Amino acid sequence: MAQTLRPPLIAGNWKMNPATADEAETLAKDVMAGVGPAADVHVAIAPAFVHLQRIDLVLDGSPIGLAAQNMHWMPSGAYTGEISAAMLQDAGCTHVILGHSERRHGLGETDADVNRKLHAALAAKLIPIVCVGETRAEREADHTRDVVATQLEGSLAGLEADLAPGVVIAYEPVWAIGTGLNATPEQAQEVHAFIRAKLSERLGAATAARVVVLYGGSVKPDNALELLGQADVDGALVGGASLKAADFLAIIAAARTAAAHKRGAAR
Ligand code: 13P
Repeated sequence: MAQTLRPPLIAGNWKMNPATADEAETLAKDVMAGVGPAADVHVAIAPAFVHLQRIDLVLDGSPIGLAAQNMHWMPSGAYTGEISAAMLQDAGCTHVILGHSERRHGLGETDADVNRKLHAALAAKLIPIVCVGETRAEREADHTRDVVATQLEGSLAGLEADLAPGVVIAYEPVWAIGTGLNATPEQAQEVHAFIRAKLSERLGAATAARVVVLYGGSVKPDNALELLGQADVDGALVGGASLKAADFLAIIAAARTAAAHKRGAAR
């Protein structure tokens, strides 16, 4: 089958940074200035909840997407401290990160939770970015595939094939997050191909070929091109390097170069 060209996506997960809305606005403006009107590489940034509305105003007229870092699955009600999909929509969000390992491992989020959030996000027309990935101990025990398969199955339960191309998967090996120790391009490609094979089993090859799968974990300007050059690596979910506009823009530029190579190879 001919290779399906997926539009690259570079998403910046700002996590619990920066401390002030003013700093967040400056960072967003710097990213926006660098990206310009170009939409050949899809870009999204994920500020903290309290900064979303302000950044949405900053991004007015820009092709950059606005992502939340989490949400609750219930539409409204007595859920102290939680944020609904409708609230994110209203704040201008286009995307929402679900099941980040810092929530799975730090805060006990389960695949069932992620699955409920997935369906609520899709119902609200948000693009979910569903994170999966193994810990160091799981990789060393050779359990990477089992762990990723289980997380995928649980997180995507009940997902219909027609909605699947609107879901983004992010493979983020826990041992690579914030450690400076990225997966090698070969390690990333191997797991990405496995993820696509699993999606293919569940949704069919044509649908699986349309799902964007990001790599996350110590993506930096100096390793981005090699990682993004892999056939099944369609973009990146960037933590630390997304807090420096110049680094984030360099990763976006690498995605543009990698996409051009892939287009060339597909001809
Ligand atoms: P780092 O890029 O800082 O390793 O973080 C990756 C990540 O967790 C993105 O969601």
